[in-house]
Amino acid sequence: MLKLCAIAALSISIGLISCNDYTKKPPVEMTDKSEKKWWKEAVVYQIYPRSFKDNNGDGVGDLKGLTSKLDYVKNLGIDIIWLNPIYSSPNADNGYDISNYDDIMKEFGTMADFDAMLSEMHKRGLKLVMDLVVNHCSDEHEWFKQARSSRTNKYRNYFHWWPAEKGKPAFRPGAFEVDGSGWRFDSLTNSYYLHYFSYKQPDLNWENPELRKEIFAMMNRWFKKGVDGFRMDVIPFIAKDTTFPVITQKMLDEKYDGHWGVYMASGPGLHSYLQEMNKEVLSKYDIMTLSEGAGTTKATAMDFVDPDRHELDMAYHFDGVDLGYVPGYFKKMDPNWSLVAFKKIYSDWDSVFANKGWGTIYLGNHDQPRMVSRWGNDAPEFRSASSKMLTTFLLSMRGTPYYYFGDELGMTNIKFDKIDDYRDIETIAEYGKVKNAGGDLKGFIEDQKNGGARDNGRTPFQWTDGKNADFTSGTPWLKVNENKTEINVLTEEKDPNSVLNYFKKMVQLRKDQKDILVYGKYTLLDKDNPDVYAYTREAKGEKVLVLLSFRKTGGTFNLGNMQIGEEWINNLKALPVNGNTVTLQPYQACIVTIK
Ligand code: GLC
Ligand code: CA
Repeated sequence: MLKLCAIAALSISIGLISCNDYTKKPPVEMTDKSEKKWWKEAVVYQIYPRSFKDNNGDGVGDLKGLTSKLDYVKNLGIDIIWLNPIYSSPNADNGYDISNYDDIMKEFGTMADFDAMLSEMHKRGLKLVMDLVVNHCSDEHEWFKQARSSRTNKYRNYFHWWPAEKGKPAFRPGAFEVDGSGWRFDSLTNSYYLHYFSYKQPDLNWENPELRKEIFAMMNRWFKKGVDGFRMDVIPFIAKDTTFPVITQKMLDEKYDGHWGVYMASGPGLHSYLQEMNKEVLSKYDIMTLSEGAGTTKATAMDFVDPDRHELDMAYHFDGVDLGYVPGYFKKMDPNWSLVAFKKIYSDWDSVFANKGWGTIYLGNHDQPRMVSRWGNDAPEFRSASSKMLTTFLLSMRGTPYYYFGDELGMTNIKFDKIDDYRDIETIAEYGKVKNAGGDLKGFIEDQKNGGARDNGRTPFQWTDGKNADFTSGTPWLKVNENKTEINVLTEEKDPNSVLNYFKKMVQLRKDQKDILVYGKYTLLDKDNPDVYAYTREAKGEKVLVLLSFRKTGGTFNLGNMQIGEEWINNLKALPVNGNTVTLQPYQACIVTIK
């Protein structure tokens, strides 16, 4: 409670200062909405570099390969590329364990390859957003090697230690460990160190000003090189209660709704660290920032992105992608997830930023299964329509869309039959947990096929129907999906009705109709309709209706006294209107003007 009041007081006082500033400037609307920014109007395309294009035949995507495909990316019509981490890393968690923030992962190439890639991007008017992973680094980072060498080492305090003479530290979760523990004993100095992910990812101590200085200097070096922004990995985790009190299950349930994510993260220093980062780094450049992190709620999101607070630009929420999992299982999808709940989540989040700040929208990324397998229908007869429907949703909502590579082709989950096919540290650890508990291993593998295993979304990009989809001439690090025969760039470029060409059309529409589709007001209609997601977007007296069928049985929508005018886009043929009832075909999506 105290903390909330303090934050409110802080934002009020900052707000007053900037109000005074406003009086000196030419009159502008007081809401952030009036402030147009390139990163609000952009479509961000996320590339998982390991799986995009391999140039040297070692089976791993690399920067040279990526650079060779920039014309493809540019042709999609997108503006910004977000790349998952490409820094030096032993790859315990595919680059989210960084051993040198100032160098490039050997498998991906060299700094010269990076410079060439960035220059080729900028030549094409594409901006580059890098991943910033600073809650933790790799246990192979020089800081950690030094820190673990003795209790008095200069770098000791860059990490969180618990001396063993104090007994065992209170439980904290370690996401990628079979025993579930976030502490690891290090015999060299008879201490435990904290790692919220794997033991290969020791958490950095942000309470140490020296550490913060190093991170800010590193960020400045990347901005000086010309990068255009950062997506900040699990950023609310950087601040935590470092007295590490015992948290009982009862406390967790009562105070934190059962979410460790809330307890572990968002500690007292969080916003002062981000304000310091803004002052020391971000404010100096015309760049964009995005906060990623479980535990961000509707109540706290504005604290990250309120322009008056001078922290970050945009925030991710997890409410959408967390919907529809069966409790008690690892990312097992409930096939009867509720569209009504889905609509409520995205509508509530739109209202968070209705007057101030700016949101984001996404349905897939490298931590999620493929969007069509999860939210659409990847059966051959519905895959194309439902991919296009989901694309229509993402690109017709307010907030910057983060679109995951391969979704523009309608790529699907790979649905591995064997644990040996998986490469992801998370899935392997979860499998280990089930095994140790004598659980149902077959059931686990089945659950992942339509469920949330991250490798479902990480398989190599499908360029052609040729060997390994032309991703690599060698053996791919993760299997290529067999459905490359139909789902691939070459085939889809030639087909005017392909998922790929629909994506391009929809991107163009969002650009052409910026006032309405980017900035316009959003209103949910018919909120209890279990089959159809309907909403309007409007600006400057113009209004459009977006209709999306989320069911293989289609759905109906009652127009009331609205009259349909011009059709902006439609993923299937005609839209049958009978009286004022519109009947949508399975997974139909359309945007029409309203008279
Ligand atoms: C974020 C990343 C995920 C990674 C984790 C630890 O959630 O998106 O891929 O495993 O942080 O860095
Ligand atoms: Ca390679």
